[in-house]
Amino acid sequence: MTGFVVTGTDTDVGKTVFAAALAGHLDGWYWKPVQAGLDGGTDRDRVAALSGLPPERILPEAYRLKTPCSPHRAAEIDGVAIEPDKVALPEKRPLVVEGAGGALVPLTGELLFADIFARWGLPAIVVARTTLGTINHSLMTIEALRARGVPIHGVAFVGNAVEESETTICRIGKVRRLGRLPWLDLLDGISLRAAFNANISL
Ligand SMILES: Nc1ncnc2c1ncn2[C@@H]1O[C@H](COP(=O)(O)OP(=O)(O)OP(=O)(O)O)[C@@H](O)[C@H]1O
Ligand SMILES: [Mg+2]
Repeated sequence: MTGFVVTGTDTDVGKTVFAAALAGHLDGWYWKPVQAGLDGGTDRDRVAALSGLPPERILPEAYRLKTPCSPHRAAEIDGVAIEPDKVALPEKRPLVVEGAGGALVPLTGELLFADIFARWGLPAIVVARTTLGTINHSLMTIEALRARGVPIHGVAFVGNAVEESETTICRIGKVRRLGRLPWLDLLDGISLRAAFNANISL
């Protein structure tokens, strides 16, 4: 088991929550290479709180940028030049890596997250909503990853069940359905672990 890249169909779809549960389940390591937006807590903080992993398993980001927007723009605002070679995969395994936003978010003016996912070669898990619009967003994400040679391990849905959409995405996209993390009214490490174990099969 080498690990996974956790990407998504959009920002705010539940990548961090899913990645926290996944990293805990694998008893692995979590890495968010670029955090854009520092106010109100980072994804790293959320994973530390939710995964049940000791703090040293939550690896430091390669770049921490102030503005909550696309990393290429956040870096520009902070006067930072992102060097793709510095966004090298840490050697810890099993490793769960969380991208920023969706798969085609720019890391620099030229390079997209999906491009570095392809370089890394880790299998990607696409986190997708179940709500209206998800078929289009999910199928486009799958095509974009495949077009760049990113191996796709499967799709993990987040939200209330919409079985027809979920099966349509997996049939047309020819991807494995890993399950669906339900929306949790009480979201803490214990409830998340239980929901992951009950609903996700890697
Ligand atoms: N299964 C869930 N149950 C309850 N709340 C959830 C669940 N999944 C995600 N959330 C909430 O939805 C919001 C967005 O989730 P999350 O931060 O995981 O998204 P993200 O895709 O990682 O966003 P970003 O693109 O900013 O990294 C958060 O407030 C999170 O607590
Ligand atoms: Mg996140």
